Amino acid sequence: MIRQERMTVVQQSKIAHNIFELTVQGELVQEMTPGQFVHVRVADMFEPLLRRPISIANINKETNEFTMIYRAEGRGTEILSLKQVGDTIDILGPIGNGFPVDAVPEGGTALLVGGGIGVPPLYELAKQLNARGIRTIHVLGFQSENVCFYEEQFSHLGDTHYVTADGTKGTKGFVTNLLDELQPEFDVFYSCGPLPMLKALEAQFPDKPGYLSFEERMACGIGACFACVCNTTENVEKDYVKVCSDGPVFPKGVVAL
Ligand code: FES
Repeated sequence: MIRQERMTVVQQSKIAHNIFELTVQGELVQEMTPGQFVHVRVADMFEPLLRRPISIANINKETNEFTMIYRAEGRGTEILSLKQVGDTIDILGPIGNGFPVDAVPEGGTALLVGGGIGVPPLYELAKQLNARGIRTIHVLGFQSENVCFYEEQFSHLGDTHYVTADGTKGTKGFVTNLLDELQPEFDVFYSCGPLPMLKALEAQFPDKPGYLSFEERMACGIGACFACVCNTTENVEKDYVKVCSDGPVFPKGVVAL
């Protein structure tokens, strides 16, 4: 159920160029699952509707804390990056349908592929898959080394490979180049990132089950602006879906790419 809560900042730090990690505490955490997102009211004093959808990177139900990783790239997220320990933030959530953790057979392997700011939700997913005894392989793509994050965290959970567009870290090029080289053995893939990446992955693994998160398409995040509407394939009854309310995660083959 989506609820609104004023949550308290317990940690905020800059972890890469323009990339911030923000941890807050509150009761909403009890209802969160990997792949869902929250809608954060970034400022109390300006536009009343200045909210931003931000994905959930890490959930700790014991301490009632969750972590978001976001890029400060506009007025709203810049204001958010100034929040300090003890400040409170109005958060609406958790929103959307997340990744199905039980889609991988017991003892199986999952391939997790993320691009840029699509990487954070894969971290909580990797944690929960590992907790089920599932092996995870991580392939993470970024523009450049200065915007990479969470290398240590992902490496603790499974094999982790980096790709950068400019070759400053890991393999140069696209995640699909690296996957061609690696030829990984796995049962199910999960991905979150830019549309061309999701499309390439679907084409690269036609015989494997997969789940794609289209969060890049979101704007308002609450079903009001229609910016996130995507056409569906002929396999689906509905003509279109809204990423924010029907997704952001869909099984592969639902959204026309
Ligand atoms: Fe506005 Fe979905 S993001 S309707």
